[in-house]
Amino acid sequence: MQNDEKMGKDIKEILIDQLTISETVKSLGKQITEDYKEKELVVVGILKGAIIFLSDLIREIDVSLTLDFIAVSSYGSATESSGVVMFLKDLEVDIENRHVLIVEDIVDTGLTFNYLLENLKSRRPASIKTCSLLDKPSRRQVEIRIDYKGLEIPDEFVVGYGLDYSEYYRNLPYVAVLKK
Ligand code: IMP
Ligand code: MG
Repeated sequence: MQNDEKMGKDIKEILIDQLTISETVKSLGKQITEDYKEKELVVVGILKGAIIFLSDLIREIDVSLTLDFIAVSSYGSATESSGVVMFLKDLEVDIENRHVLIVEDIVDTGLTFNYLLENLKSRRPASIKTCSLLDKPSRRQVEIRIDYKGLEIPDEFVVGYGLDYSEYYRNLPYVAVLKK
């Protein structure tokens, strides 16, 4: 628990504890399982933030699926996204005629997710749906449908469970607000 002690100093408050996260993930997995019962799924994770959520989520999904990843960088500061998105890593599989589920850690302005969604739609998947663990609706700049939404949070910058501040804190097992 040395890490917890070290990082605990930077934490203002725990916003979402481990139990709440795991209940949320289970419930999302159940819904997705229901909806894709007879189908095959390509789950697309957005690196790096979504990996912790994704790895827990897919173990709650009881349908046949494959995994792929996209890495993007949105130009901007550490805490603000600009909406200009650059692909650092593209998909390895062809998603044409496949059922795609994009998994994101958090939708904030919505600019990143919107850009990715439009890009993937142009590759003619059979269907495409969106899943995000967290949603900050107060900051939205583009309307975006989150088909599988975990939890809404207030306008605070959060870290942990995959989410970072300048690449740190992804390994916290909960979602927390940082001290200023
Ligand atoms: P958007 O384009 O503003 O919706 O931003 C989406 C991306 O910004 C997410 O995938 C995160 O990587 C990052 N982000 C937005 N809000 C937070 C936050 O509170 N903590 C950590 N990363 C965030
Ligand atoms: Mg991210």
